Amino acid sequence: MKILVTGGTGYIGSHTVVELQKKGFEVIIVDNLSNSFANVVDKIEQISGIRPAFEEFDLTDPGSTSDFFERNNDLDGIIHFAAYKAVGESVNDPLKYYRNNIGSLINILANMKTYGIENLVFSSSCTVYGQPEILPVSEDSPILQAMSPYGNTKQISEEIITDTSLVTNVKAILLRYFNPIGAHDSALIGELPLGVPNNLVPFITQTAIGIRPLLRVFGSDYNTHDGTAIRDYIHVVDLAQAHVVAVERMINHAGKKKIEIFNLGTGNGFSVLEVIHSFEKVSNEKLNYQIVDRRPGDVEIVYADTSFANDELGWKAQKTLDEMMLSAWNWEKALKTKK
Ligand code: UFG
Repeated sequence: MKILVTGGTGYIGSHTVVELQKKGFEVIIVDNLSNSFANVVDKIEQISGIRPAFEEFDLTDPGSTSDFFERNNDLDGIIHFAAYKAVGESVNDPLKYYRNNIGSLINILANMKTYGIENLVFSSSCTVYGQPEILPVSEDSPILQAMSPYGNTKQISEEIITDTSLVTNVKAILLRYFNPIGAHDSALIGELPLGVPNNLVPFITQTAIGIRPLLRVFGSDYNTHDGTAIRDYIHVVDLAQAHVVAVERMINHAGKKKIEIFNLGTGNGFSVLEVIHSFEKVSNEKLNYQIVDRRPGDVEIVYADTSFANDELGWKAQKTLDEMMLSAWNWEKALKTKK
C-alpha cells in the first residue's frame, strides 16, 4: 500500500512516516522544505531501515503537483500535513496562510478527483473549537469563529474537503489535534522550530539548554487551579499512530461516513505550571521562568473528549506527560551534541 505524506519531513509528518513504515506501508514524502530539512529523510531511514521516497516541490504549484500525481496515480491514500502553522505569523501575513494552506489543499483535491484517489487524512486542529463552553470538548461541539487566519485555514479546509466529498469519490478523516509535543525515543527526529519557538515545550527545552534566557509564562489569572492555562498535550508518536489507524480504516472501508472527524488528545488537561514541573522533575533542571501577562488570543482551558476516537478507531494515547517531557528534553540534548 502506497501512501503520500505531504509535509513528511516536518514534525508530525516525519513521526508518521516512521509509524507507517513500521506497518509495512510504502511512503512517498512531498515537502518544499520551507520549515524542515532534507536530512530528516536520512534520520527516518536510520530509525526504520527503509528510505522513504522524497520529492521536493511546492504543492501550491499546480504544474508540479499534477506532474507528481500523473506519475503516482496509484496512491492508496494521502496524509496531508503540509501547511504553515504559526498563529501569530498568520495574523501578520494572512495571505501567506490562505495561499499556502488553502492553495495546496485545492491542488491535492483536484488531483485526487482526476486520478480517482479516494482516501485523505487531513491535519486539523482543536483551534476550530475556540474556547468551548462544555469540557471536555467532543467532536460535535460547535465550530466557533476562528481566532486567527491560521485557525480559519483549518476551518475552511474542513469545509472544502467536505464539499468536495459530496460530489466526488473523495473520502476523508479529519483529525483535530490538541497539543502535540515530545519526540521519537531515538532522539533522531523531533520538533525543529526555526527561530524563536511559539510553542511552550520547545521554549522550555531551549531555555533549559541555554538558548533562551527565560521562559515567559503567559498569564496566571486564568480560572484554573493554579491560574495558568490548561491544554491537552499529546505525544507526537501517539498522534502519529492515530494517522496509521485512520489510513487503515479508510483503505479497509471501515469508515461509517465519507467524512469522519476525530479528536486526537489524551483527554487530560495540564496547566502551564504543571508542564514546567513535569519538565523539572524528569530533567533534573531548574527552569528559569517568569509570569507575565496573558498572550492575546489564548484560550483558557481546552482538553479533548477522546471517547469517540478511542471507541471508533480503537486507538488511545499511551504516553504520560512525564514521558512526553523526557523525550522532548532528550531531543533537545541530542540537537546540542550535534552542533
Ligand atoms: N505558553 C507560555 N509561554 C510560552 C509559550 C506558550 O506560557 O512561551 C503557554 C500558552 O499561553 C498556552 C500554553 O503555553 O497557555 C500552550 O501554548 P502553545 O503555544 O504551545 O500552544 P497553543 O495551545 O497556544 O497552540 C496550539 C497549536 C496551534 C493551535 C492552537 C489552538 O500549537 O497550532 O493550539 O488553540 F492553533
